[in-house]
Amino acid sequence: MSETEQQPEGGARQALRAPRGTRDVISPEVERWQSVEGATRETFARYGFREMRTPIFEDSVVFEKGTGETSQIVQKETYRFTDLGGHDLTLRPEGTPPVIRAYLEHKLGHSKDVARFYYIGPMFRYERPQKGRYRQFHQIGVEALGSESAALDAEIIDMAMTWLGDLGIESLRLVVNSVGDVDDRPAYMEKLVDAQKVFLGEMSEDSRRRHEVNPLRVFDSKEPEDQPVIEKLPKIIDHLSPQNRAHFDEVCGYLSDWGVGYTIEPRLVRGLDYYRRTVFEISSSALGAQDSLLGGGRYDGLVEQMGGDDVPGVGFAAGLERIVLALPEGAETASLDCYVVTVSRDLMPQAMALMRDLRGRGLRCTADFQDRSMKAQMKAANRSGAPAAVILGPDELSKGVCNLKMMESGEQHEVSLEILATVLAEELHGTGHTG
Ligand code: HAM
Repeated sequence: MSETEQQPEGGARQALRAPRGTRDVISPEVERWQSVEGATRETFARYGFREMRTPIFEDSVVFEKGTGETSQIVQKETYRFTDLGGHDLTLRPEGTPPVIRAYLEHKLGHSKDVARFYYIGPMFRYERPQKGRYRQFHQIGVEALGSESAALDAEIIDMAMTWLGDLGIESLRLVVNSVGDVDDRPAYMEKLVDAQKVFLGEMSEDSRRRHEVNPLRVFDSKEPEDQPVIEKLPKIIDHLSPQNRAHFDEVCGYLSDWGVGYTIEPRLVRGLDYYRRTVFEISSSALGAQDSLLGGGRYDGLVEQMGGDDVPGVGFAAGLERIVLALPEGAETASLDCYVVTVSRDLMPQAMALMRDLRGRGLRCTADFQDRSMKAQMKAANRSGAPAAVILGPDELSKGVCNLKMMESGEQHEVSLEILATVLAEELHGTGHTG
C-alpha cells in the first residue's frame, strides 16, 4: 500500500480496498481470534472480571480528560469528527477512559467494592501502519477500580502472564517498574530535566524535542546516540518515596513468591500520562518489531480527573492482532466437522435432511450446493478443511447407511445413519456425546 491515499480517476475502474491500516479477518484466521476470545472470557471470569461493552465513539472530552489533552494519542492519533448534529466525537483510541466514564455514569462504585471489568473490541489510532501496528486494531483489556492494594497489581500481572501462557504463547518477557506519584514525581522531574540539560548536545533531535514536551519520553528513545545518555539519567525507581518504594517491593514480592519471572526495567515509562506507581509490559520474541503484546499499570487519580471521587485503578490492555500473530501454529480448530457429498444430484433432499439432523445433534456440517460431480464435491470437501466427508449413494441409502471418509488418513467405512452423529463425535472429539 502506498502512503498517499489514491483517489479514483474519473470513470477509471478502481478495485475497492479496505482503508489503509485496517484488515479483514477471514477464516482460518478468524477461528484463531475466536479461540483466543473464548479462552480469554474463561480465564478472566476465574478472577472475577465481568465484561463491559462501551460505544465505539465517545464525546471527545472523554479522551481529553482521560487519555490526556497533551498526550501524543489525543494530539496526533485520534479519529475525531463532528457528526451531523454538531457533536464533537472521537473513535476510541483506548479502552480505559470509556470504562471509567461508564463506571461513573452508572454509579458502579457506590458500594465501594472493587469493580472488575474486561473488554474486547476495536480501537482506532492514526498511526503509521506496519506488521502488528494498525489504525483499527483490537484490544483485550481489564480495569479494576477501587483498591490501592499492591496485591491487586500483582494479581492482575499474574493473570496476564497466566492468560498468555495458557494461550500457548512462548518466550514471554515481563518487565515492571514504578513511575511514582504526586509524592515523588515532581521532585524527580526537576532532577531529570536538569540532568537532560547537561547532555542536550549529545542527544538526538527527537529526544531534544521530547525533553521540551515530555522529558520522561526520552527513556523510550531507540536512537543509538541516546543510549549512553539514557544510562546516565536519574531513574525514577531510585527516587521513590518510602511508601511508593514499599508498594513496589510488595508487588515484586508477590511475583517472586509465585514464581512469575520478571525484570525490573527502570527505563519503562509507558506511553500514556495517567500511570502512577506500578507499570508493566509483556512482550514475546514470537513477534517481530512490534513485540509489545500487552501493557498496563496503576492509574490512581484518573477517576478523579474524569469527574469522580478519588478512586484508584489498575489495568492492562493487549493487542489481539499481536496475540494472534504470536500464537503457535495449529492453535485454531477446524470450523467444520464434516462435509456431506452425494453420489448423484437427485440425493440432495436426503443430504439436506441428514445435515438438519446432524446440526440438531450439535455437529457442524455443510455440502456443495452447486450440483457438481462427486469428484468436484470431494475436492471442495478437501478445501473446506473438514476432517471427515459423509458420502451418500443410492445403494447405501437403501440400506440406511453412508460412507464415512476420514480426510487425513483416507480411511473409509460404512456407518449406519442412525448412529452417524455418535460415531462422528467419537472419531473427531473422542466423545460419543452430541447435542
Ligand atoms: P497501550 O500500551 O497504548 O495501552 O496499548 C496496549 C496494547 O495495545 C499494546 O501493547 C499493543 O499490543 C496494542 N496496540 C496499541 N496500539 C496498537 C496498534 N496501532 N496496532 C496494534 N496493536 C496496538 C493502553 O491502551 C492502555 N489503555 C492499557 C491500560 C489499561 N492501562 C491500564 N488499563
